[in-house]
Amino acid sequence: MYRTHNCGELRLEDAGTEVVMSGWIQTSNNLGHMNFVQLRDRYGITQLNFNKDDDEALLERAAELGREFVVKVEGTVRERSSKNMKIPTGEIEIQVKSMTVLNESKVPPFTIEDESDGGDELRMKYRYLDIRRNPVKESIIFRSQVALASRNYLSSKGFIEVETPFLIKSTPEGARDFVVPSRMNQGQFYALPQSPQTFKQLLMVAGMDRYFQIVKCFRDEDLRADRQPEFTQIDCEMAFVTQEDILNTFEGLTKHVFKETLGMELADFPRMQYDEAMRRFGSDKPDMRFGMEFVELNDVAKGKGFGVFDNAEMVVGICAEGQAEGYSNKDIKKLTEWMQRPQIGAKGLVYVKFLNDGSVKSSVGKFFSDEDLKAWGEKFGAKAGDMLLILSGETDKTRKQLNELRLEMGNRMGLIKEGDFKPLWVVDFPLLEWDEESERFHAMHHPFTSPKKEDEERMLTGDHETMKALRADAYDLVINGAEIGGGSIRIHDRALQARNFKLLGFTDEEAEEQFGFLMGAFEYGAPPHGGIAFGFDRLCAVLMGQTSIRDFIAFPKNNQGRDMMIDAPATIDEAQLDELGLKLNLNLKEE
Ligand code: AMO
Repeated sequence: MYRTHNCGELRLEDAGTEVVMSGWIQTSNNLGHMNFVQLRDRYGITQLNFNKDDDEALLERAAELGREFVVKVEGTVRERSSKNMKIPTGEIEIQVKSMTVLNESKVPPFTIEDESDGGDELRMKYRYLDIRRNPVKESIIFRSQVALASRNYLSSKGFIEVETPFLIKSTPEGARDFVVPSRMNQGQFYALPQSPQTFKQLLMVAGMDRYFQIVKCFRDEDLRADRQPEFTQIDCEMAFVTQEDILNTFEGLTKHVFKETLGMELADFPRMQYDEAMRRFGSDKPDMRFGMEFVELNDVAKGKGFGVFDNAEMVVGICAEGQAEGYSNKDIKKLTEWMQRPQIGAKGLVYVKFLNDGSVKSSVGKFFSDEDLKAWGEKFGAKAGDMLLILSGETDKTRKQLNELRLEMGNRMGLIKEGDFKPLWVVDFPLLEWDEESERFHAMHHPFTSPKKEDEERMLTGDHETMKALRADAYDLVINGAEIGGGSIRIHDRALQARNFKLLGFTDEEAEEQFGFLMGAFEYGAPPHGGIAFGFDRLCAVLMGQTSIRDFIAFPKNNQGRDMMIDAPATIDEAQLDELGLKLNLNLKEE
């Protein structure tokens, strides 16, 4: 027998109990006549006491234990003389009577402690050691709890979990596909799903009514802290529902998960139209944990002879409360440079300081009188001590830049409270998004999203501005400035779907070739339907107050898309290429 108890469960009331325990050696503290060894497993840490008076030979063997050795011990639980009240097992120790070394360990390449000395790459290479550390281990256990809570809720609401295939044909969701060559159909490729979108819609046509799946999705896109090439969705679809039904159901899911995993009751989620979110926060995922809302100044800042503002489509700013006295000219210069970095690309930054003595200082003081500047201040409700930060330029770009500044200032000013959660629904997204590079419209969500009923007629008749103004029955769940989920009511009518493909620049033949299976299904009684997918990794991270999803994934990829542990991607041998018919194709290309 390896164990009667784990390393996290013994307490003072167990004193006197004979136990068998197994685990890893975390540390040992050898005092010569006595050795205190910390034994660790998934459940916690228990102190082992090897003592000269008890068994000298055993004490000598204990001195040879290295970090991360795997051992089994037998002994008696007893009260500790020096207690550690920081851990649940800190009042007891095991007086060891016998010990078996089950396996030895090389010295680990980094310390297996909450704060490790290992860098990211090293920890990724030895991820199985990294997972022994509490922060990573707890994140992964937490993920399992979030999955369980989600399954319980969805199951209680009549959702059926259905698996959909991974070897499919490309589904456009805005990213590149990962492709898999087919051996039996040489020259042809499967694509890994960017999401199960078309399949879940087909399940609605099939009458499954309520579907969900906690499912891997694959997207070949540039990676960031909140993006992995393979990630997980809680993917859902419902038939015979309106947007209202969907928002209510998934607000319920979110509340249930918060309650079950954090013990937290969330208030009802506010809803905000996309246009309003852009106007007030310059973002379709506003962080509502603090204010600092945008105030537009076109009416008071233009036409006073300051060319930069006069020529700008939009003059808009934020008010940083209480920052006027604290920001020196040098600080403002640094902040301006930060805004001018290519990632943000602002041309400049205008400030107005309302100083405590009632005076006004501004980088545009030459062009505007104190009265003018005070009139701006009034629009913000600014008080003495506050500082306005103002940008100008093309509307969409300027709002995006000001969003970055707002988030930065929110952080710098410490406006974000730990443990605060501010969810909201952003609704009424545009149907289309103009892509500068390809100079055409793309679906903002995906091509299966339904336009708003009142916009259906205008879909093919419109010019650029009409197309931009089309709205969709699409919505996002945003928590603390992170896009946690997105979904829409779908098109379920073949003719409307065809019209949407046309709008997106597909010829009838292209639409038929790529999506004939879906449009065909719409001819056999497709019910009205809609759904949503939550980014499961992001949901876990946000619940734990983190922005990076990496530690919630047992074996993640690095920013170059590599698995450092198994060293993938990797080349494959020629015989394998041959079998897939790939070598042949490569040769043909060379000729
Ligand atoms: P969407 O593309 O918005 O919608 O994806 C849904 C959610 O998945 C998460 N997400 C990601 N998480 C980690 N890494 C990534 N690379 C990544 N990409 C997306 C986000 C996002 O909100 N089929 C539709 C859903 C639907 O319409 O029902 C879809 O996939 O949290």
